[in-house]
Amino acid sequence: MYKIAVAGTGYVGLVAGVCFAEIGHQVTCVDIDEQKVDLMKSGVSPIFETGLEELMQTNYAAGRITYTTDFKAAYQEADAIFIGVGTPEQPDGSANLSYIATVARQIAESVENDCLVVVKSTVPVGTNDKVEQFIQDFLVKDVKVEVASNPEFLAQGSAVHNTLHAERIIIGTESKWSEELLTKIYAPFHLPIVSVNRRSAEMIKYASNDFLALKISYMNDIANLCELVGADIQDVAKGMSYDERIGSKFLNAGIGFGGSCFPKDTKALEYIAKQNGYELKTVKAAIDVNKEQKTMLYKKASKRLITLNGLKVAVLGLTFKPGTDDLREAASLENIPLLLEQGADIYAYDPVGAESFAKVHPEGKQGKGSITYVSHIEHALEEANVCFVFTEWGDVKAVTPETFKKLMRTPLVFDGRNMYRVEDMQEAGVEYHSIGRKP
Ligand code: UGA
Repeated sequence: MYKIAVAGTGYVGLVAGVCFAEIGHQVTCVDIDEQKVDLMKSGVSPIFETGLEELMQTNYAAGRITYTTDFKAAYQEADAIFIGVGTPEQPDGSANLSYIATVARQIAESVENDCLVVVKSTVPVGTNDKVEQFIQDFLVKDVKVEVASNPEFLAQGSAVHNTLHAERIIIGTESKWSEELLTKIYAPFHLPIVSVNRRSAEMIKYASNDFLALKISYMNDIANLCELVGADIQDVAKGMSYDERIGSKFLNAGIGFGGSCFPKDTKALEYIAKQNGYELKTVKAAIDVNKEQKTMLYKKASKRLITLNGLKVAVLGLTFKPGTDDLREAASLENIPLLLEQGADIYAYDPVGAESFAKVHPEGKQGKGSITYVSHIEHALEEANVCFVFTEWGDVKAVTPETFKKLMRTPLVFDGRNMYRVEDMQEAGVEYHSIGRKP
């Protein structure tokens, strides 16, 4: 078993740290935020993630994981230091590497034993070479420090499960020593390990995410065409999915991809290509389609209605996908300002995302419109003139066509997640507009 330090306790760092502890390693998670560290010590997770708190508590009680702001003590004697800090998007689409650089410098100034620095954060190809050089430049003690790339493939909402049962572990190293150490650290997971060089590992992460983003944008593009030619995107996707080369996952058309990864990683790879004098046409297309798709429901509603001014508008779902309280790049963030601008009185429901959304759009009058947060779907729907569905939460999916018909003043539903059967809505007397299916 190894002494592991983890820098950064966001989705990537905290989940990795807890899972390393779960398989028996001795883990210290480092974060600069003292309040967050205290919270984690008391067994509370700073992020909403199924199963995470339970594992934090059992591993803390067993003494396998601890949390600290004291990076020096954590890095000093670690066998491996995993970096899981953010690489947010900059205005030009490139990744901001300043958090990685800060941690790299702290590592260089703290380590007292040979150690492997493992970058889990998504970074542009070639970054790990630079991180290794940077550490060498600032290294205080005469010890061996190498850098490995080990990209993360967890999805929010199922992060713990994705880590403990990952489909593959990608290890990008430049020496036998690094490769063997990282392989041994991962051995207790009993998962397939793909060992490549550092640059290939960095590229695997972007290429995987951007391929999935491309798959979604492709389906959205086809969905928009389906509407024009009278085909049904769900039937089309079903028919396609029997081909094993296509597969059945990530074929759901909707209001585009959001979250902290696909939007950022598509732009980052496009930027990397540009920097290298290459135009990545496919990824650019995925970005362009997604931009258009995000406001597709609003565009449909604007065509259908003379005005939204003074209408009661029910909004079901605010987060970028179900199972998370994350709002980053959520379609709701683009559509709700447009609805408010038009003077809509919005009644918004989300099982976990309302509180964070209220920080961006406080309850009450906003411009010509207003926004009210409700804790029951029925309260949003009662007497509503229009309903928009932005997130496919289980309880939103469970709303029956009859409920829309009964509760709404005018049963007019714009569904960005294709959650209900067109025929059922028609039968119940609901006017139903979705994505890539006949109205
Ligand atoms: C994504 C990847 O799925 C993970 O493999 C990856 O590790 C992660 O990014 C990351 O780089 O950290 P995540 O952003 O959590 O994970 O969420 P996804 O479940 O992939 O969904 C992303 C967006 O695509 C959501 O807005 C979702 O609604 C949308 N989506 C997904 C569709 O519109 N259609 C689909 O068929 C699937």
